[in-house]
Amino acid sequence: MSFASGILTGKSAIVTGGATGIGSFIVRKLGALGANVGIVSRKEENLISAVNEFKASDDIDVAWCTGDVRDPEGIKKSFDQLAGKIGGIDILVCNAAGNFICPTEDLSWNGWRTVIEIDLNGTFNCCQAAFPHLKESTDGGRIISISTTQADFGWPGAAHAAAAKSGIQNLMKTLAAEWGKYNIRSNWISPGPIQGTEGVDRLIIQQGLADQVLERVPLGTFGKGEDIANAVVYFSSDTGRYVSGAGLAVDGGSQWNRGR
Ligand code: HXC
Repeated sequence: MSFASGILTGKSAIVTGGATGIGSFIVRKLGALGANVGIVSRKEENLISAVNEFKASDDIDVAWCTGDVRDPEGIKKSFDQLAGKIGGIDILVCNAAGNFICPTEDLSWNGWRTVIEIDLNGTFNCCQAAFPHLKESTDGGRIISISTTQADFGWPGAAHAAAAKSGIQNLMKTLAAEWGKYNIRSNWISPGPIQGTEGVDRLIIQQGLADQVLERVPLGTFGKGEDIANAVVYFSSDTGRYVSGAGLAVDGGSQWNRGR
């Protein structure tokens, strides 16, 4: 399944956390469909090896800049620098996230704060940093945040991430209301378990939960990174023109199959 070739030609996109996991699938798809893509993450070695890999396997030139989404001034500088390289910012994908499993009674204040800062505050920082560029986008800027279906329920063992992702979804709704006048759309995607990602490896497979999680997926398999990337393309291109403040679950139906 694919979109028409070149549907993102002329668009510029930044993907935070784009060097690894779901982010790297999003980068590949946006690049393959013609967008100029830039990636930001903390570790230079991850960025360089990802950019080399994008070039070798997909023949895509991806710009990069180090940056920590927790640092508002630093991320502004990173985005401004990347925007100069890729020709502005039409599409911002807030994908960078941190998470670990820990029962709430054992969770330290610093553990709580760290995940809230990366996920929720980081998304806020990136939206603000991209705003002046998104406002200039010819066909209207797009913000797409990567959330989780767990944000709509509770997430035992991940109170910090569940609260942060829930906050992200609400932030997207508010920005849809506030920034619509600037022609900026703000939406989110809630992935289910996506195979081959560090999150699923560490939070599901290494916890011995793979069978239990799979049983809850009505479509019977883990998702692929490409499933999330396709949803990003929908929101990013003309297909998502009239959609703002909305969420799309890409989870094989599992959010509605939570047991009796
Ligand atoms: C308990 C933990 C912990 C753990 C860290 N902490 N890991 N507590 N159990 N497993 C605590 C530390 O003890 C410390 O608190 C505080 O959290 C900060 O830890 P640091 O290691 O100093 O933070 P930092 O180096 O900034 O790393 C951030 C991180 C790390 C979130 C902790 O895991 C990270 O960088 N992750 C990035 C990648 C990632 O997580 N990707 C997965 C996203 S997947 P104290 O009190 O000791 O100082 C996702 C969706 C998955 O989000 C969906 C699956 C279905």
